[in-house]
Amino acid sequence: MFFKTVFMATLLAVAIAQGPRTCYKGLNGVGAGPINDCCQFINTFCNDASLTQTPVRIGDATSRCFNLPGGDRCDFIAYNTYNQGVSPSNANCKTVLEDIGSKCILLLDGTSMPWFAWGNGTGVNGSDDALQKTTLAIQNGINHIDTAQLYKAERETGEAIKRAGVPKDQVYVTSKLSWDADDQTVPLNEVRSRIEGSLERLGFIPDLYLIHNPFIAAPGDLKKMWQVFEDLKDEGKLKSIGVSNFRPQDLEAILDGAKHKPVANQLEFHPYVIAHLEPVLELQKKHRIVTQSYGTLTPLLRHPTGGPLKPVLTNIATRLSKESGELIDEAIVLLLWARSQGVVVVSTSGNPQRLKRYGEVARLPQLLTPADIELITTTGRTIHFRNYSEHMEKEFPLPNLPSQ
Ligand SMILES: NC(=O)c1ccc[n+]([C@@H]2O[C@H](COP(=O)([O-])OP(=O)(O)OC[C@H]3O[C@@H](n4cnc5c(N)ncnc54)[C@H](OP(=O)(O)O)[C@@H]3O)[C@@H](O)[C@H]2O)c1
Repeated sequence: MFFKTVFMATLLAVAIAQGPRTCYKGLNGVGAGPINDCCQFINTFCNDASLTQTPVRIGDATSRCFNLPGGDRCDFIAYNTYNQGVSPSNANCKTVLEDIGSKCILLLDGTSMPWFAWGNGTGVNGSDDALQKTTLAIQNGINHIDTAQLYKAERETGEAIKRAGVPKDQVYVTSKLSWDADDQTVPLNEVRSRIEGSLERLGFIPDLYLIHNPFIAAPGDLKKMWQVFEDLKDEGKLKSIGVSNFRPQDLEAILDGAKHKPVANQLEFHPYVIAHLEPVLELQKKHRIVTQSYGTLTPLLRHPTGGPLKPVLTNIATRLSKESGELIDEAIVLLLWARSQGVVVVSTSGNPQRLKRYGEVARLPQLLTPADIELITTTGRTIHFRNYSEHMEKEFPLPNLPSQ
């Protein structure tokens, strides 16, 4: 109830503050500004006679971000309601609040993705469980699913979207080219067919497709592997393309002369790894590569004591709970902190109650104050603790920080 009230109040405030709009500066977010975490749920219709009378939704993403006149923030999620190739002129446009259930982060290729994803890589146990829980996640309003070849849940992801009765264009899907077994690489001449395998299992082209880990390419092959991704994108067989667990040297290897830059790097990301990640994050900022964050709850769930952040998160959660009269726990605070960093969060839960709450969290406005965000960041930077140490710690120097 609280979430819904805050959410609707935010929408109303935005609508009042913005008033009626005229038309867009550009379609599909092309040339749009900084990555943001504040897209609103607004659909824009134009009554220009040169445009289609009946808005036609084209494009595949659930949402598109637009840069609007007078603002350098991409603050709209809007369907492209025009016939392809027709640009809105300075016509009479009307903005209509529409809850499409997501907030989005703009990507450098002009598309955008919902900021909160539910993953079926952890927290599920086998095929039936993956199908059941992925379906439940979508039914609870989560509109971004993270999967991978490794998780053996691509078929279940496609099936879950059907079972949930939600059109595919309302669920953003990330998948990944993975390894078969630890220490095994994917031969270059199999990259294309293995990716086609993902598409066949899913039953559609995923909105975002990643190289799961730089180590799946044999030494010296990473750039060539990325070029297969680029070719497949040019052929229309992939949409947005990106990477996961890439260190600075891996990003540099593929960025050198890249036809398409990766739009995202999926990493373990939370306050206890940001000091270590600084060189990666700097490089990503320079190229506008978005972080997708997994292991976000590590400070709470996996650090042996919770470390210095625990009391900070507890205090903020207690205050927000008191202010709202609803339970805001430390996990929600951490997820909102990640969002404040312009990051797409990938979390998971097999617990039906928590899943329901995740559906609400995905729609939450930013409850944290700038002071909360700053305190979490500075406290987190005082230690280094990583859960998935198999990633990112090889040939990437650790900061000189304690782990407690
Ligand atoms: N690219 C990669 O290499 C990579 C690596 C790891 C993960 N991933 C992706 O990221 C997804 C999430 O990964 P993760 O498990 O590391 O995410 P996480 O967000 O750090 O942890 C999720 C776990 O937290 C538990 N949880 C959530 N809220 C809680 C609360 N309030 N109190 C106690 N426990 C709580 C959930 O358990 P319950 O089920 O009990 O709710 C769930 O098992 C994976 O499924 C996968 O899609 C990608």
